[in-house]
Amino acid sequence: MKKEEICISPDDRGFLFSDSLYEVIRYYPGLLFRPEAHIRRLHHGAAHLNLSCRDFSHLIPAARDLIRKNHLADQDALVYIQVTRGTAPRNHPFPDPAPKPTVYMSVSRFDTTVKDRQRKTGIHAITVPDIRWARCDIKTTGLTANVLASQQAAENKAGEAVFVRDGVLMEGTHANFMAVIDNTVTTAPLSNYILGGITRETVLDLCREHNIPTSLEPVHQSRIHLASELMITGTTTEITPIVTLNTKPVGTGTPGSVAKALQAAFCAKIQQMQNSIPGFPL
Ligand code: PDD
Repeated sequence: MKKEEICISPDDRGFLFSDSLYEVIRYYPGLLFRPEAHIRRLHHGAAHLNLSCRDFSHLIPAARDLIRKNHLADQDALVYIQVTRGTAPRNHPFPDPAPKPTVYMSVSRFDTTVKDRQRKTGIHAITVPDIRWARCDIKTTGLTANVLASQQAAENKAGEAVFVRDGVLMEGTHANFMAVIDNTVTTAPLSNYILGGITRETVLDLCREHNIPTSLEPVHQSRIHLASELMITGTTTEITPIVTLNTKPVGTGTPGSVAKALQAAFCAKIQQMQNSIPGFPL
């Protein structure tokens, strides 16, 4: 459907309560990146929110269809999926009987120019108190704290804000956070306080494949001065070095060798996945 023809009720609980989940999936020419992992994460959220619909696997072929229909098959694109509990008169508890979830998916061309430049030069980042709720593992559209932190970053000419909870640098507003300490890629372990990022998981796998030591332990702000490199990982950011944190240079103040090695490995992985697609290049 054309966007302007879509009708979503103002009584939709996604609109009224952010009672809703979302996913952003990267499409590289020919390659939808790890869609099964996104669908698994959607299932995880739907189970915790007790949504009446849990199986979203049909959205993968639908996403590919949408990309084709929008003539984006040979381009960079992003698939956005949102699933809400559905529409019912405003009342906090779950409606009974459960309404049919609202499922919305759209695809848009992804202009990578800015992100490409940020990956090369690195970004400035700031830290902000983590005022989010305690279920950050569920990818809900309740993103007020992320929006405010992201705006604070923008006002400070920074590319990302890193949430700090009990002194620990947890993750960014739309990306996970990693530090290189003693040549070891260190990142917070999975918990209810961070999103289980699909890029994070891919990067940790790449570290293992390339014999880069990893450690899943909280990065406390008292150890930040020990980090030779900091970076964020995410669907839209891939692997982006942080070159200053709260205006202090990280390491040499330029993208470090571990981030560069991981960027090269990530790029090679995408190319390898694309080359294994029948009929590629398109
Ligand atoms: N955000 N942490 C948070 C809070 C996020 O919102 C995201 C993704 C990530 C990285 O997850 P992944 O590697 O699976 O993209 C970590 C999406 C891209 C967004 O909100 O646009």
